[in-house]
Amino acid sequence: MSRLQVDVVIGLQWGDEGKGKVVDALAGDYPVVARFQGGPNAGHTLYLNEQKVVLHQVPAGIFHEGVYCLIGDGVVLDPEVLLKEVEGLRQLGISAEERLVIGKGVHLILPVHRWIEEVSREGEKIGTTRRGIGPAYADRYARRGLPVGWIDRADFPALVQELTAYHAARFPEGEAPSLSERFWEGIELLRRLQQVQVSEWLPRFNRVLAEGSQGTMLDIFAGTYPYVTSSHTTVAGVISGLSIPPQSIREVYGVLKAYTTRVGGGPFPTEVFGAEAQWLQDRGNERGSTTGRLRRCGWLDIVALRYAIQINGVTRLTLTKADVLCGLPTVKVRIGGTDDHPHYISLPGWKSLADPAFEEFVRFIEQETNLPVWSISTGPTRTDWQQRALA
Ligand code: GDP
Ligand code: IMO
Ligand code: MG
Repeated sequence: MSRLQVDVVIGLQWGDEGKGKVVDALAGDYPVVARFQGGPNAGHTLYLNEQKVVLHQVPAGIFHEGVYCLIGDGVVLDPEVLLKEVEGLRQLGISAEERLVIGKGVHLILPVHRWIEEVSREGEKIGTTRRGIGPAYADRYARRGLPVGWIDRADFPALVQELTAYHAARFPEGEAPSLSERFWEGIELLRRLQQVQVSEWLPRFNRVLAEGSQGTMLDIFAGTYPYVTSSHTTVAGVISGLSIPPQSIREVYGVLKAYTTRVGGGPFPTEVFGAEAQWLQDRGNERGSTTGRLRRCGWLDIVALRYAIQINGVTRLTLTKADVLCGLPTVKVRIGGTDDHPHYISLPGWKSLADPAFEEFVRFIEQETNLPVWSISTGPTRTDWQQRALA
C-alpha cells in the first residue's frame, strides 16, 4: 500500500491569487512539488532573494534544493517555453534539469497550437493568454494530440508535421508556422530530462505538494463557462492529472486574495471601475504575469468563495495581498444577492496587518466560510508569512 499523502494548493478565485508564492513558502517540507494541469498560461511569481522570477511551466518548488519538480500528465507543455525558462533559471544559478521530472502523459503544445489562436480568433472574446492552451487540450481530447512519451518514436517528427498540416488545412487563409530550431532544441531538452510513468514514480514518495494553476472559477466544468481555461483547475484535476487515488488527498490549501482580480472576459459580479479600480491595480501591481495585461479588480466575493471551497473540499485558507488594502477607510465584501445585484457589507479598514480591524476581517472570513484562515501572506516574498494557530 502506498503511503502517499498529497496536499494541494488551489486558487479560489479567477487566478493570480498568489499560488506560486504560497507553494514556494510551503515547498521546503515536501520531497516533490507537482503541477497537475494548465500550461504556460500560468504565471507564478516568486522571489529568489531580491530577484523576481515568473514561472510558467516549471513548478514553484524549484528554488528549494533537493525538491523534485514534477510536471504531471494533466499539463500541456510548450517545449520552447520550457527551454527558455530552464535557461533563465540556469543564469540565476539554479540547475533545474537535475530536479525536473516530466510525466510521459503530458501533452505537447506545438507552434501550430499558438498559431490557431491567432488565425481562428476564437479566443478573442474570452481574452485567452494566446499560449495555445485551448487548441492543445482540444487535440488531446480529440485523440490526435502528441504526448511527451512519444518524442523518442522514429515517426515523431512525421507526427508533428502531420498535426501541423492538419491544422494548416483548416485555415488556408493563414500561413502555418514552420518548426523552428528552438522547438527541436526544446524537444532535445525534454529528452535529457527524467521522463516517468507518474502512477509508478509518485507513490515512491510519502508527501507531495500539488500546485494548481489558474483558479477555481476558470475551471472548464465548474467555472464561468465559456469564460474559462481548458483544464480542470479544481481538486478533481489533481486526481486525474497526477494519477493518484482520492484518498491520498490530505490538506487542501485554498488561496484567496483579500480582494478579487480577473484577466480577460467574463462575468465578475464585484468588479469596480474608474478610480477605485485604478487604485487597486496600482497598489496591488495588478498586471498579468504572463501577458502584461491590466487585471480587472473588484471586492472579495464570499458567495463565489463559498462555492469554490465547497467543490474543492478546502480544509485551510491562505489569505494573500491584504497588505495591499492597508490605508482604506472601509473594505467592502460581497455577502449575498444575485450576480447582477450583489449585496455588500462594509468592514472597517486597517492601517497595518497588526491593526485589530484586520483581525476582524480575518475572523469575518472564517465565520462566513466556516474554515480557519491558516496562514496570511503579508507580502510577495517567501518570508512575508504569518502562520496562525488553529483553534
Ligand atoms: P499566481 O498566478 O496565483 O501564482 O499569482 P501571480 O504571481 O500571478 O500574482 C500574484 C502577485 O502578487 C505577484 O506579483 C506576487 O509577487 C504578489 N504577491 C503574492 N502574495 C502577496 C502578498 O501577500 N502581498 C503582496 N503585496 N503581493 C503578493
Ligand atoms: P495563473 O496560474 C489568470 C485566463 C485568461 C482567459 C482564460 C482562458 O497565473 O493564476 P487560456 O489562455 O487559459 O485559454 O485563457 O483564462 N487565464 C488566467 N487568468 N491567471 C492565470 O494563471 C490564467 N491562465 C489563464 O486570461 O481569460
Ligand atoms: Mg498568475
